[in-house]
Amino acid sequence: MASDGFDKLYHEKPRRKRGIAQRVSIWFASLNPYRAQRRNYRRLWIPIFLILALWVGFKGFGVIFGNSHDRKVRKTRQWFKDRLIPGAVDDLPLDTPPRYFDLYEEQRNLPQHNLSLPYPEGATGRYVKFTSQINMLGWNNVFNELLMLNYLAYKSKRAYVFQDYVWKMDYFPWEEYMAWTVHARTPLPALIAGPTAGGPWPAGDPAPRSVHQDFWDIVCPPERVKVIWSHHVKKEFDLHWTPTSKFIFEKWNKVLLDDTAKCIEVIAPQRDIEDFGQVFDLWLWGSDRILPMWEELRDSPVSQLLATSPLIQRAVDRNMHLFKSDVTVHKDPFDQVFAVHVRRGDYEGACMNLAQWNSTFYSWNQLPYLPDRFTPPPGGIPGNNTKENIEFYYNRCLPNVDQIIKRINDARDDWEKEMFGVVVPGHFLNTLYILTNDKTSWMTDFKARLINEFGWKVVTSNDITFGNAQEKDVGMALDMEFARKAAIFLGNGWSSFTSNILHRRLVDKKIPISNRFF
Ligand SMILES: *[C@@H]1O[C@H](CO)[C@@H](O)[C@H](O)[C@H]1NC(C)=O
Ligand SMILES: *[C@@H]1O[C@H](CO)[C@@H](O)[C@H](O)[C@H]1NC(C)=O
Ligand SMILES: *[C@@H]1O[C@H](CO)[C@@H](O)[C@H](O)[C@H]1NC(C)=O
Repeated sequence: MASDGFDKLYHEKPRRKRGIAQRVSIWFASLNPYRAQRRNYRRLWIPIFLILALWVGFKGFGVIFGNSHDRKVRKTRQWFKDRLIPGAVDDLPLDTPPRYFDLYEEQRNLPQHNLSLPYPEGATGRYVKFTSQINMLGWNNVFNELLMLNYLAYKSKRAYVFQDYVWKMDYFPWEEYMAWTVHARTPLPALIAGPTAGGPWPAGDPAPRSVHQDFWDIVCPPERVKVIWSHHVKKEFDLHWTPTSKFIFEKWNKVLLDDTAKCIEVIAPQRDIEDFGQVFDLWLWGSDRILPMWEELRDSPVSQLLATSPLIQRAVDRNMHLFKSDVTVHKDPFDQVFAVHVRRGDYEGACMNLAQWNSTFYSWNQLPYLPDRFTPPPGGIPGNNTKENIEFYYNRCLPNVDQIIKRINDARDDWEKEMFGVVVPGHFLNTLYILTNDKTSWMTDFKARLINEFGWKVVTSNDITFGNAQEKDVGMALDMEFARKAAIFLGNGWSSFTSNILHRRLVDKKIPISNRFF
């Protein structure tokens, strides 16, 4: 054993008295290649091992607690969290999008997902999958089409194949990168209940129940599938631009009913061939051609059995206290609630677009027996309306604070007159629920005026609390449920959010004067 100065130092001085700098220099010296001693190799091992351990530790710490944008890293992290943190599997933390293990499991176990069932279900059943249905748009542009397609499948004696809702990422309640899949998705039974999401038809109705897309993949493998291109049918029967919803419905109904193929998939062409290749396209929903289907759809089991999902019902129950007051303790608090949809921000541009293109109200908002109508004014050319006309649109589409408050108070008075013959002194309707995406001071000031000047008790979307990430995920559908239950609902006539709320209110037999538009 050689003994140079450093070794001497190492052996002679007690450890605890050495400073950090000294220790480091000793260690570096020990790496001296000219000192070929076994013991030094061992010394080399320890720091390398320590550095490696630290690196793995940091990496692991980052994976578990970090904030990576990489989906694989986040999935690994979630795997650890699921094992370490109570509630992670149940989608409890609100900062993470839900994974819906429970709902996907329930969905898989639906009784109709069974190949042994007799015709028209099971292996020999009749199915139609509308791969053409619109996607990556706001939930409400999707929702109205789903209901109509489900009714078309029903009338065509085929099981409707329901699909997950695929988000338009602008509206996703978390950062885009946080979605667990590319394009976040939500299982349909989270958003709605009823035949469209796999619920039963009325007792005794022989119609096949809706099945999930995963079951379609099993029961209808590619070799059994007959593909129908939506634009071919539209062209053959001249279904573009002018015909009514009823005409369109009947043509498709005949095609799907008469065909003996068990598995039919309706596919839309690429957008360069046709911009909106849906069976019931956006041009139809945005014009009064949609109206002839109303009575039939309203009275169909699709609408009659459309129901609130258990998930949304849980969130409603959790927030019910917000709407209760001393007078309503023993009654349904929503008998005294006025719901108003006040959308700001992104509506500025949307309203200008509607004005320039002379848009009518959307879908069921155009029903002629409702008290508030809108007729596009004459003048202007498509894409370039007149200044006066644009202002005319703005008064209805993006009213200012004074206009909104006046509309709310007037609508309440109209309703009380109709219900009680007079405007009730002190007012029967005392709670205002504001459905909104606005969290700015505009909303704070607006709220303060309603409370201080007009005596309303005010609740807004911002007051709603979510019990888990699933409830947060379906927040927009939860808002719709409150508006559906309210005594009066005042919405925006151009909005599909409003028209789908209206759909359920009219199925619930809410009187016309309780369904208002700005
Ligand atoms: C599937 O359907 C058959 C025929 O109705 C029934 O006997 C069987 O119990 C069902 N299977 C399940 C898992 O429900
Ligand atoms: C809007 O429609 C009305 C009535 O059909 C028409 O007179 C007017 O020119 C149209 N305006 C625009 C901007 O397209
Ligand atoms: C719109 O119409 C006005 C007059 O009606 C005209 O002055 C203006 O140039 C037009 N704008 C566009 C973009 O076509």
